[in-house]
Amino acid sequence: MTDHNTMNDVENAMDGESPELSRLYADFAAKNLSPLWTQLGEVMTDVPRSKAQPCVWRWNELLPLAARSGDLVPVGRGGERRAIALANPGLNGRPYATPTIWAAIQYLGPHETAPEHRHSQNAFRFVVEGEGVWTVVNGDPVAMRRGDFLLTPGWNFHGHHNETDQPMAWIDGLDVPLAEHLDVGFFEFGTERVTDYSTPSVSRAERLWANPGLRPLSGLDSHVNSPIAAYRWEHTDRALREQLLLEEEGFPATVEQGHAGIRFTNPTNGGDVMPTLRAEFHRLRAGTQTPSRQEVGSSVWQVFEGRGEMAVAGETWTLEKGDLVVVPSWEPWEFRAETQLDLFRFSDAPVIERLSFERSYVAGRER
Ligand SMILES: [Fe+2]
Repeated sequence: MTDHNTMNDVENAMDGESPELSRLYADFAAKNLSPLWTQLGEVMTDVPRSKAQPCVWRWNELLPLAARSGDLVPVGRGGERRAIALANPGLNGRPYATPTIWAAIQYLGPHETAPEHRHSQNAFRFVVEGEGVWTVVNGDPVAMRRGDFLLTPGWNFHGHHNETDQPMAWIDGLDVPLAEHLDVGFFEFGTERVTDYSTPSVSRAERLWANPGLRPLSGLDSHVNSPIAAYRWEHTDRALREQLLLEEEGFPATVEQGHAGIRFTNPTNGGDVMPTLRAEFHRLRAGTQTPSRQEVGSSVWQVFEGRGEMAVAGETWTLEKGDLVVVPSWEPWEFRAETQLDLFRFSDAPVIERLSFERSYVAGRER
């Protein structure tokens, strides 16, 4: 029998389902069985078709809502964090931005402490505005300031404290949904206060590790997580600025015309900062239009500064400072920068690449 005949037989059988066939399906269900032939299109799609939807969250809506929770909800043991997750409307009310990524706005009021704990899930913070909070990672106090990207790799104790009279908000990114799919999560409480309330401007981890191109001889082993606790805005900004200046001077430096980009990396192996999350920063010159891109794996973008448009899967949004956009797997995306546009991006790319599922397509370029 040919494949074609097989398909016809299946279609015929499904069109006029005989009582015997109905009984067979009922018997399958009673034994917790499910036939492939009735649902092949759902189980194996022609291209990735994410249940997550392309979606935008506005900073000027997120921040007042977070502030209201600051008035009403105490932060402390049990709830642990005043974090409000982006819940993708395609993911059945789960607090997940994408099938693999948790993204949340976290809000800490004046002189509050978020107690220490640790979990298997990997986490980072990105600061779109404000300063005055220290995150204490395994006893090392790390200052949080505008534009900084901070790591809390899995199973490191961490807590936060606000030393100022002002509240502060930032975004958290974690691999929580991935950990849930894989059933790998462990969690432990630490102290109810942070273990060190000192407020150095630079962490011990940075003093040891954040010297450009210089690795301590006491740390030549490869580590799965980057030991750099915080990637500071002054370095990110300089790297992006120099790429655009070099381009102006006629030297190859940028991703494409008018588009500078960097990846935050682990200095011990050159790879991503953590095994499950990739983080990048992009800067588009005013007027730059990027080509349409598609990639396997999901991303979240946050506007750090500037104004522009982003189109995802045919829908176009005008974006401003702090706005967050989810790009599900394989949905085409592109930017048009109205002013200079600074963009922070994080994704599950290390997982996709480690499992050899990566594919990408850039419109106008060879596949
Ligand atoms: Fe945590």
